[in-house]
Amino acid sequence: MTSIVKIKTKQKADSYEIRIGAGLRNFAGPWAAETASNPAGRIAVISNKKVFGLYGEAAEKSLAGAGFKPLVHLIGDGERYKNLKTLENTLKFLSGSGISRTDTILALGGGVVGDLAGFAAAVYLRGIDFLQVPTTLLSMIDSSVGGKTGINSSFGKNLIGAFYQPRGVLIDTETLTTLPRRELTAGFCEAVKQGAIGGQNLFDKTAAFLESFDRKKLAQKDTEFTLSLASMLAAQVSFKARIVAGDERESVSKMDARSRKILNFGHTFGHALEKVTNYRYFKHGEAVGHGIRFAAELSKNLGLLAQDEVKLLNDVLRRAGTLPPIADIDPLEVFATFKFDKKLINNSLNWILLKRIGEPVIFPHSDIPLAALKSAFKNTARA
Ligand code: NAD
Ligand code: GLY
Repeated sequence: MTSIVKIKTKQKADSYEIRIGAGLRNFAGPWAAETASNPAGRIAVISNKKVFGLYGEAAEKSLAGAGFKPLVHLIGDGERYKNLKTLENTLKFLSGSGISRTDTILALGGGVVGDLAGFAAAVYLRGIDFLQVPTTLLSMIDSSVGGKTGINSSFGKNLIGAFYQPRGVLIDTETLTTLPRRELTAGFCEAVKQGAIGGQNLFDKTAAFLESFDRKKLAQKDTEFTLSLASMLAAQVSFKARIVAGDERESVSKMDARSRKILNFGHTFGHALEKVTNYRYFKHGEAVGHGIRFAAELSKNLGLLAQDEVKLLNDVLRRAGTLPPIADIDPLEVFATFKFDKKLINNSLNWILLKRIGEPVIFPHSDIPLAALKSAFKNTARA
């Protein structure tokens, strides 16, 4: 069974579909032929060695079967390869292979591959068709949806990029069978994040899925389990699609509870943790897991969120998996890095906090006493 979630964008012609189901990589060809504007064109598959080794052959076979001439470009594995050098090599590959404006780029991999390939698609010949086949949990529910593409640089993460929507997203739930446990945990933390800001239904659905999550059933491709996984993914993606439809380019002035900014719940503290540990200690989603706990504690300290909701959030997060401890990290060093987020918009930092599950609020950093931050850190580090 395939679930279909539609993403509506401002430019109607740019709206697209996300397909979710088991084994869909084997249908990448017919899907691409239906989705790309030129089904007779060439397709540049961008991936990395690990993912391509696992899923490349099936995707390539299906694409060739549908009449495409797939060309493959593999980038390095890991965040450190999401940079200008890799982008340049990718653009050289596209040019050297004669990829033209009527051809397509297909990203097969996690968020690193998707962000880099998407940005290459946005800038190569001023934009060519782009398809996403995300293979990590995080990329399925978050990075492949909504058109944020980009790379890291010496001055920060994701600070060079473009909003560039794919023409379609194909999610094959079976690819999660090979995903390492920590990557699953990282993705689950992002799922809890979306549940916490999305509403009680999404939160409860995510919590129930995490309660029943069983890696053995995932590995065995148990039918009932696979259906519940696909249903959870569809609910997550639908939520993100709604936010993107209402605020595609994350408008600076939009400050309500449905602004795209709310997707940064847990991220101010998460980014700071990643930065003080030189991006080596945490998976991004794990840092966000701590960030959710911190934002919940902070919301409580500011009198916004009730203690029982903080407890509920923590209970559900625990089901996402074990997070690397933060007790040895100096809170003042973490607080000092908030200034990097502050620089991004008019020298002001806003937190995404919670009034209750499903009710996010944008809150100015300048209104938060240091004592509230310190106490939130203490409680976050304790658990
Ligand atoms: P990733 O792309 O680095 O993948 C994690 C690891 O899993 C890699 O080693 C990868 O090779 C491996 N892998 C991928 N699929 C696999 C599979 N099916 N089986 C086994 N191994 C597999 O990490 P990620 O968490 O997917 O993405 C993180 C990136 O996403 C960051 O760069 C972050 O900035 C970006 N991101 C972007 C957005 C957005 O809106 N564009 C949102 C969130 C995060
Ligand atoms: N991951 C945040 C966003 O897509 O806006």
